[in-house]
Amino acid sequence: PTELTFFLLCLFLPCVAFCHEEINRSQFPEGFLFGAATSSYQIEGAVFEDGRGPNNWDVFSHIQGNIQDGHTAEVADNHYHYWKDDIELLHSLGVNAYRFSISWSRVLPRGRFGEINSNGLMFYDKLIDSLLLKGIEPFVTLCHHEIPQELEERYKSWLSPLIQDDFAYFAEVCFKSFGDRVKYWVTINEPMLFIKFAYSMGIYPPGRCSAPFGNCSSGNSDTEPLIAIHNMILSHTKATEIYRKYYQPKQGGYIGVVVNAIMFEPYSNDEIGRDAAKRAFAFNLAWFLDPLIHGDYPAEMRHYLGGNLPSFSTEELNMIKDGLVDFIGVNHYSSFFAKDCIHSPCNPWESHPISGYVNLTGERDGILIGEKTAMPLSYVVPNGMEKIIGYLKVRYNNKPMFVTENGYPEGDVPIERVNELLHDTKRVEYHKGYLASLARAIKDGADVRGYFVWALMDNFEWTSGYSLRFGLHYVDFQTLKRTPKLSAKWYRNFLTNCTKIY
Ligand code: NOJ
Repeated sequence: PTELTFFLLCLFLPCVAFCHEEINRSQFPEGFLFGAATSSYQIEGAVFEDGRGPNNWDVFSHIQGNIQDGHTAEVADNHYHYWKDDIELLHSLGVNAYRFSISWSRVLPRGRFGEINSNGLMFYDKLIDSLLLKGIEPFVTLCHHEIPQELEERYKSWLSPLIQDDFAYFAEVCFKSFGDRVKYWVTINEPMLFIKFAYSMGIYPPGRCSAPFGNCSSGNSDTEPLIAIHNMILSHTKATEIYRKYYQPKQGGYIGVVVNAIMFEPYSNDEIGRDAAKRAFAFNLAWFLDPLIHGDYPAEMRHYLGGNLPSFSTEELNMIKDGLVDFIGVNHYSSFFAKDCIHSPCNPWESHPISGYVNLTGERDGILIGEKTAMPLSYVVPNGMEKIIGYLKVRYNNKPMFVTENGYPEGDVPIERVNELLHDTKRVEYHKGYLASLARAIKDGADVRGYFVWALMDNFEWTSGYSLRFGLHYVDFQTLKRTPKLSAKWYRNFLTNCTKIY
C-alpha cells in the first residue's frame, strides 16, 4: 500500500503542483458546456455548390473596397468539404459542445420564394449526427449575419416587416428538420452590432448609412437602424412563438438570442459619468434584450430618440412578454469607458441621439483600459467578464446565460513567422484570465451554463478578411491545413483539469 500511495502521488503530484492556483474545469458546475464556436459564412466556403443561393455577404464582399485585401469567403476554411476533419478537431479538444450556424441561403436559397434545398438540409443533418456520435452537443445559430440576397432585393430585408415571416419560416424548417437532435437554438447573432455596422456605418451589407455618417449611400434616414432592429426583435418573437407552440413541447430544447456584450465603465467617476455608462448599456445591450424580457425598449432610448423609436402594437406586446428567451447568449471580448457627450464635446456621431450621446473609448487620461489586441478597439480586461455577467444577472433577473463567444485576435504574419502564431501564449493568458473571472461570477450566483471559445479555427473575419486570426487552430489559407496552436493544447488540458502542461 505504501508503494501504491507513493506511485499514485508521483502520478498526480505534477498535476497538483502545476495546477495549483490555476483555473481548472472543476471550478465550473457539473454539466457545464465547454465548446468552441464558428459561423457558417466564416468557415464553409462552397458558396456556389449543391444549390446554395447567394447571400448578402456574397454580394457585398465582391464590391471593391468592402473587404480588406479584396478577400472573399468563397473558399474560407472549406469546412463544407472538411467538416469531418473539423469534428475531429473538436473531438481532440475534448469539448462537449460546438456552436455553429446554419446558412440560411444554403437551406432556403431564395427564402420563402423558392424550394427548400435538400442538399443543404443533408449537410447539416450529417454534421449534427456526427457531432452527437462524438458526444458533442450542437448549439445552433439560425442567423449569423447572413440572409439570402433575394430578400434584400425583393423588399430590403431587415427594413421591411416582411422579413419577420421569412425568418419564422426558415426557423420552422430548421426546428422541423433538426429539432429532434438540436436542443439549443439561437435565433440571431449580435443583432445590435450587425445593425449598427449595416445601417449606420455602412460597413456590413447592405452598406447603408444613417446621419451623421451619411456619406456611404447618403440620404438614408437615421431611423433605419431603429426599424431594422424592430424587425429583428419581431422576427425573433415569431420564430420563438412557433418553437414554443409546436416544437418545444415535443422536442424539449431551449431558445435564446446572442448579444454582443461589451462591459462599460464610467469614464468619470461622478453622476455624469455613471449616467453615460447607463446610456451605453441601454443603447448597446438592452436595446434588444429589454423588449424581449421586460416588454419595451429601455427608457433612456425612448427619452433621447422620442417618436423615432418604433413602438410595439398591442398585438405585438401580447407576444412580447417575459419568457421570449430561455437564455441569453453573451459574446464578451472587451470593456470600454463610456464618456458623456451631453455635457462635453464629442464627434458628430457620438453627439447624435442614436448613439445615446456616449463616446466609447479604451483610454482615460492616457491610460488604456487593458492591453491592446490586434483588433481595433479590443482590449484585454479579464474582470470585465464577471462585471458584464453581474450586470446581466441583475438587469434580467438571473436568466440563464451562456458565454457564446470569447476570444483573442492576432494579426496575420508572413508564413516564415508562422511559429509566432502557433505559440500563442497571449491567447492562452487571455482565456485563463477570462475563465477565472467567469468562475468568480458563477461563484457569486450567476446562472451561467456554458462557455465557447471563438473560434475553433482561423476563419473569414468579415470586413477584415483573413487578416485577423482568432482560432485555436491555425489555418494555412493556401493549403487549408489546420494545425493546433498552443492554445488548443492548453484548452484540452484545461478540459481535463490540468492546465499547465505545455
Ligand atoms: C463576434 C461575431 O459573432 C463573430 O462572427 C466574429 O468573428 C467575432 N465576434 C470576432 O470579431
